[in-house]
Amino acid sequence: MNLLEVANLESAYGPVKAVRGVSLAVPEGRIATVLGPNGAGKTTLLKTLSGIIDPKRGSVRFGEQDITGRDPSHIVRMGLVQVPEGREVFPLLSVRDNLLMGAYTRTDRDGVARDLEVVQGYFPILRERATQDAGLLSGGQQQMLAIARALMAAPKMILLDEPSLGLSPKLTQEIFDIVLRINRERGTTLLIVEQNAHLALGVADLGFILENGRIVVEGACAVLRERADIQEFYLGLQHDAGARGERRWKRKKSWQ
Ligand SMILES: Nc1ncnc2c1ncn2[C@@H]1O[C@H](COP(=O)(O)OP(=O)(O)O)[C@@H](O)[C@H]1O
Ligand SMILES: [Mg+2]
Repeated sequence: MNLLEVANLESAYGPVKAVRGVSLAVPEGRIATVLGPNGAGKTTLLKTLSGIIDPKRGSVRFGEQDITGRDPSHIVRMGLVQVPEGREVFPLLSVRDNLLMGAYTRTDRDGVARDLEVVQGYFPILRERATQDAGLLSGGQQQMLAIARALMAAPKMILLDEPSLGLSPKLTQEIFDIVLRINRERGTTLLIVEQNAHLALGVADLGFILENGRIVVEGACAVLRERADIQEFYLGLQHDAGARGERRWKRKKSWQ
């Protein structure tokens, strides 16, 4: 069963069309990734799914419900939770209070207390730093906090916007390992937006490549990883030299 179904979605900032007719589906319990260069419309897509931006056209279904144009707090309560690009932790609140902010829609106190333990198990550093201001954490620790805060909402699905942004390869790998564990252990469905195509295609089941607001390629990541054109465009592995290869390489470089 598809947990998320997006059909012909269009979003714009005034006259600037950022998402131009996107359709995609994510089955329950799976990890999907949306890859694409800067400005492709990835963040706009996620913000539209989570209700921060109203779409101009198209529809979003989550589980049994049509959530097109619903407000963000309704969408969070339904179990669709976004981890924003750039983390957006509350710098002057403690790490623990940031986590509790993630549970603001919940009324099951015992469940919240239990989940606080669970997320601190996934990210032990957040237990160590529980009483410190979140603004004092490193970039990687703030990314961990942002993911943990999303988990505190007891989500069925998490939308993760560029978790690797500005992080070292080692930290990024650590975060992806935990994301994979969360998916396997809790059955949480994920949609991960990334510019690091190599990493994302390694953990996700399904991949969508977004360019200029449109999906230009989609498929199983196992298949996408093996496709020569994907390797050239998105993984930086060149198969042929010459003018064509050169052009593609330049394009690849603009991603990083
Ligand atoms: N707040 C905004 N106002 C106007 N245009 C925007 C705004 N945010 C993004 N855009 C434009 O929308 C397009 C898609 O941006 P975005 O969704 O942020 O892309 P990505 O996340 O893939 O880098 C870009 O052309 C960008 O300049
Ligand atoms: Mg973005």
